[in-house]
Amino acid sequence: MNILIIGMGYVGTTTGAVFAEWGHRVTGLDIDPAKVDALQNGKLYFYEPGLEELLLKHVKEKNIRFTTDSGEALRGHDLIFICVGTPSRSDGSADLSYIKQAATDIGRHMNRYKIIVTKSTVPVMTTEKVAEWIRQSCPAPVPFDVVSNPEFLREGSALYDSLYPDRVVIGSSSEKASQLMEELYQSVKCPVIFTSPRTAEMIKYASNSFLATKISFMNEVAKLCDQLDVDVTDVARGMGLDPRIGPHFLQAGIGFGGSCFPKDIRALIRTGKEHGQPLSILQKVAEVNETQPQYMADFINQRLTTLNGKKIVVLGIAFKPDTDDLRETRSFPVINHLLQAGAEVYVHDPVAVIPKKYKDRGVTQSQDVIDAASGADGIVICTDWPQYKDLKWRNVHQVMRSPNLFDGRNMLDGAQMREIGFYYQGIGYR
Ligand code: UGA
Repeated sequence: MNILIIGMGYVGTTTGAVFAEWGHRVTGLDIDPAKVDALQNGKLYFYEPGLEELLLKHVKEKNIRFTTDSGEALRGHDLIFICVGTPSRSDGSADLSYIKQAATDIGRHMNRYKIIVTKSTVPVMTTEKVAEWIRQSCPAPVPFDVVSNPEFLREGSALYDSLYPDRVVIGSSSEKASQLMEELYQSVKCPVIFTSPRTAEMIKYASNSFLATKISFMNEVAKLCDQLDVDVTDVARGMGLDPRIGPHFLQAGIGFGGSCFPKDIRALIRTGKEHGQPLSILQKVAEVNETQPQYMADFINQRLTTLNGKKIVVLGIAFKPDTDDLRETRSFPVINHLLQAGAEVYVHDPVAVIPKKYKDRGVTQSQDVIDAASGADGIVICTDWPQYKDLKWRNVHQVMRSPNLFDGRNMLDGAQMREIGFYYQGIGYR
């Protein structure tokens, strides 16, 4: 198939590379010439394990190409995926302006029957709006179908998730479009759910919201565990063995970040309000998440009495491991707290780079953990990069002024750290 993808972000780029891998000819369209240039040279402008290699292979074999020329690209394709961003507005609702722009462009260049697929995370009923926007901008009536095909990939394992999805959801009210989508996904070995566009859109929001709920639930349990001297990591293990609960997304810590959970929860809460059905559980999920970095900061304050002039090292700034993405990362509230309290802040991350505004406030990024830890009064782990598990913690301990270790991801073995000589504090875990 000849496939056009609009929007070369995480979702669009990964989807494009995977469709090319499945034997299709792919064109990636983006308004940013710098992104298009980089991708056309087989270069990713973000960090995602394995994706650059696959991209380069298909650029070389000419299975995928990139362009900023929307007119030519839109007229030349009959299967178009919309993968543009849907950021939060100040009232929490999803900003659909990029979606609307894409739909309007499609309409303007509508020269024959096309199938338009929304992969971006969009509120329920957006597929209908996309159809309306296309219709309104079409110079003359041309038949088309709009399908909702939400994406479930995770950053850091985007390629694996796209090559081996656990489910494919297709929301379509057209038999013809459903058949084509079935053909497109014929090689996947997972259930393919055919449903209405509204239901498909809701599946995506409800899935992300439920996963976020699991995390906030465990974070509340963890705080109670702290009061009762109970180990939340054992609680999670014990709970997770129940197949009805499952072992995933039960890891307590400083909360969830990223470009999806916080934004999607806000959007679903907003949808609930708009339709007279408030989602009170989700409201609490968001509230708990907001309090987690402060909860960790309180431990640091209590232990160090004052942070003024103390050297604190933040390990991990990305919102999770295997990505350089800093969107809504939980490390920023922690860093803000440390700075406000007068601490001297050093950060380390295997790939993410601290933004200039933090450098301007005196934050130093170190390439080496030992260098950063030298003379430090405390270390706070904000991202559970696996390499932090394998650090030579005895050497880290030796170079610190006061060996205080605050584990915001409960990723280390507390007993082992104490045995080395650290004061160790996790969340619901010591
Ligand atoms: C999430 C979903 O997991 C994907 O299925 C979905 O496709 C994606 O959003 C999206 O809507 O595009 P992602 O944001 O990449 O993926 O990251 P996750 O792996 O879900 O992690 C989100 C956050 O939750 C991270 O900050 C992570 O540290 C935190 N987390 C995760 C916990 O605090 N505890 C856990 O047990 C698991």
